[in-house]
Formats: sequence, C-alpha cells, structure tokens
Amino acid sequence: MTEQQIQDLITAALAARGTAYAPYSHYTVGAALLVENGDIYCGCNIENASYGATNCAERTAFFKAVSEGWRGFIAIAIAGGMEGHEPVDYAYPCGICRQVMQEFCEPDFRIYVVKNKEDYREYTLSELLPCGFGGTSIQ
Ligand code: THU
Repeated sequence: MTEQQIQDLITAALAARGTAYAPYSHYTVGAALLVENGDIYCGCNIENASYGATNCAERTAFFKAVSEGWRGFIAIAIAGGMEGHEPVDYAYPCGICRQVMQEFCEPDFRIYVVKNKEDYREYTLSELLPCGFGGTSIQ
C-alpha cells in the first residue's frame, strides 16, 4: 500500500460514515474496501429495530463488492464514532466482520483502523484473526 492509497481509503471511510443508518446506537461507522483492480467500495452500518438484523459497515462494503463479482481484496479502512463527532477511538472490526474477511481475503489483507487522516493503525487480517476458521478447514 502506498501512502496515497492509504489516504484515499481513509478519506473514503470517513466520508462513508455520513450515510450510516444508526438511529438506535447513534454510533456511525464507515468502511472503505480496496478491490484488486483499484476500485473502492464503501459501506456504512445499517441498524434495525430488531437489533440482530443490523449490518456492520465492513460487511456492507464487502457484500456490495462481492455481489458485483469481486473476490480479490487488498485492504479496508474503518472509522467509527458517535454521530456528529469525529472518532475518538480506533474502530476495530467485530468478530463477525473478521470472519467475513477470512472468507474472502488472504492473511496479509490490510486493515486500517482510523481516528483521522493522521492518526490510524495498520494490521493484517492474520493479526486480528489468528488461527481463523476458513474454507480450507472443511475440504
Ligand atoms: N458496527 C460496525 O459497523 N462495525 C463493527 O465492526 C462493529 C459495530 C456497528 C453496528 C452497530 O450499528 C453499531 O456499530 C454499534 O454496535
């Protein structure tokens, strides 16, 4: 990842928070997923009165891209915080989203958790989901 690619992904994730539908938690999350061809798919969290039907920002981005035929992914940036406020903490992906990443990504897939354009951390999927369960486990 070049610094420009990282900055573009971070900018997209911060912007994607703007369309979050989070009337219950008021915690808005944006995610920006870099596809192997260089395209960026964005996602936001979409809550539901039946809380379990809520979809996280990361999975929204993945499912948009996968539903359009993409399978190879390079990196994702994630930004989350209370509605109307800049993030005060890094927004780490939940366990279900990490498992979805495991399904479609290599162990060196990059995950950027973002407070702002200057303040972010980089991880690999294997760091955030070590010893993960995947398709090869059931072949
Ligand atoms: N959320 C995400 O969008 N991504 C995560 O990885 C963790 C949680 C959302 C779901 C819900 O709308 C809100 O944050 C509070 O849990």
